[in-house]
Amino acid sequence: MSDILERPAVVDRHDPWKMSSVTIRRVQHESSGVFTIEAEFDDPSFGKKFQFAPGQFNMLYAPGVGEAAISIAGSTEQGWLQHTIRAVGSVTRELESGGVGMQLGLRGPFGRPWPLDWISAHHDAADLVIVAGGIGLAPLRVLIERIAASRNRFGEVHVLLGARSPADLLYCQLHSGWLEQQLAVDVTVDRGPPDWKGHTGVVTLLLERLDLPRPKTTFVMTCGPEVMMRYVAKSAIGRGIPESNIWVTLERNMNCAIGLCGHCQLGPKFICREGPVFRFDEVASWLRVQEY
Ligand SMILES: Cc1cc2nc3c(=O)[nH]c(=O)nc-3n(C[C@H](O)[C@H](O)[C@H](O)COP(=O)(O)OP(=O)(O)OC[C@H]3O[C@@H](n4cnc5c(N)ncnc54)[C@H](O)[C@@H]3O)c2cc1C
Ligand code: FES
Repeated sequence: MSDILERPAVVDRHDPWKMSSVTIRRVQHESSGVFTIEAEFDDPSFGKKFQFAPGQFNMLYAPGVGEAAISIAGSTEQGWLQHTIRAVGSVTRELESGGVGMQLGLRGPFGRPWPLDWISAHHDAADLVIVAGGIGLAPLRVLIERIAASRNRFGEVHVLLGARSPADLLYCQLHSGWLEQQLAVDVTVDRGPPDWKGHTGVVTLLLERLDLPRPKTTFVMTCGPEVMMRYVAKSAIGRGIPESNIWVTLERNMNCAIGLCGHCQLGPKFICREGPVFRFDEVASWLRVQEY
């Protein structure tokens, strides 16, 4: 299993300092304070060359304000890159207020992706459990789409989604398509209105209720608040899934995105270069350490 930890960061293939100019062509409101931008490369030849893997991120630069790491949530048929963003600070608020027509800078893609290719190369029809909390669905969306596109390479695929309320659920318009592609989508919210017919409670409850016939060859990939991912891992291990089959993606403040500045350091790991996707046992002992 060791080679899975050595999959390369795709950053090695391009100039990590090169910033491309992109223009926001469409903005989709997702939930309170959360929106998806679709951005087109101003130089179409660069857009044609740009390739990314599920789980990677870009550094988005709001002119005169700064850069923020944002996961790649997908791309459109026109090749426009999609990023789903929560407006929390200076850069993300600037992107929110910029809207359609705003020009911004983009460096990337950075980071090690989800190990989907490795899983399908080493296991026939492995079962997959994708667990997302809130905006944590953004870095999992391309992964879900890639799984759906090669559905016959995998066994049972469960997509478990948790959010604070129904209004906070992301990409609701895509869920029925995922169901049609034989992905078992299940949703829970912390609090629902009286007419809410879905589950209520934390997302780990959905994992605990799952029928998992082949835990040793079941892989879990999760993104959300760190406390949620720790409970997902605990619950998965309790269901017989090996710790080495559990994958998480981590966030820390980033600056260079290529392992030089130390901003994103977690224990001995640089999240930008060795992550953001990690095998759970690589980082479990560091997950209680807060950034500063
Ligand atoms: C690999 C990676 C992928 C990421 N992908 C996404 C993504 O797809 N979408 C997205 O919206 N963000 C994503 N982030 C988080 C994003 O990079 C940070 O939220 C970033 O700091 C925002 O920049 P800012 O200048 O707007 O906020 P800052 O000015 O840097 O921060 C303002 C305040 O917001 C707080 N804050 C920072 N992040 C969060 C948060 N996530 N929730 C609540 N408060 C926060 C900070 O502690 C600070 O107090 C990702 C981060 C990493 C490392
Ligand atoms: S952001 Fe500079 S080392 Fe990771």
